[in-house]
Amino acid sequence: MGIVRKRWKILDSEEDADALKQKKDENNYQPGVVYQALRAIFDSKLNKAGMVGAVYVKTDNGVLFEIKPHVRIPRTCRRFCGVMLELLDKKCIRTKDTNEILMRVIAEPVTRHLPVNSRVVGLSYSSEKVVDIDDYVNSASDELNLVFVVGELAHGKINEYTDDFISVSNYPLSAKGCIGLICESLEHKWKIF
Ligand SMILES: C[S@@+](CC[C@H](N)C(=O)[O-])C[C@H]1O[C@@H](n2cnc3c(N)ncnc32)[C@H](O)[C@@H]1O
Repeated sequence: MGIVRKRWKILDSEEDADALKQKKDENNYQPGVVYQALRAIFDSKLNKAGMVGAVYVKTDNGVLFEIKPHVRIPRTCRRFCGVMLELLDKKCIRTKDTNEILMRVIAEPVTRHLPVNSRVVGLSYSSEKVVDIDDYVNSASDELNLVFVVGELAHGKINEYTDDFISVSNYPLSAKGCIGLICESLEHKWKIF
């Protein structure tokens, strides 16, 4: 988030190249990557079948927020950025009609919001444990709540609070691609067609 032409906005490395010129990490300003990753979750059959328990997002500057799985994610990235600005400002977004919470900023650490019996699985191309994600989810007990952690930044690792740390391919994938693989494996496991 930053001020461009006297207005707060979610910064974008392409649109706001001038404003980001001084930053070393300008490639991390890509709201489109987060947007596509969230669409991969919310538009999945897994979510439509009610099998996504919760989605948490942590921003680069440490703001943690929860998005309820039944949220209808905006259909364009521009509108998504508008909703994110409102969330960061008001800390909570509710439905207009029923006043139900759709998104809210929550306190760290994320582990205190996870259900008991959670297994936190970090995904990284750099992990030496390369798994077939189908076999991995098939061998996990349904008593366990699987929590997958996927990074959105251009660089950096995500191994905070993880019980396991896996690679799902011999190639570096996009966040959206990884989430697609996870959703498809769980859909096969639970026969969601
Ligand atoms: C490095 S980011 C890339 C961000 C990128 N700009 C994008 O379009 O998504 C992608 C994330 O996907 C996951 N990832 C990528 N390749 C992977 C692999 N082979 N195995 C496991 N996770 C992987 C990691 O969590 C990583 O943080």
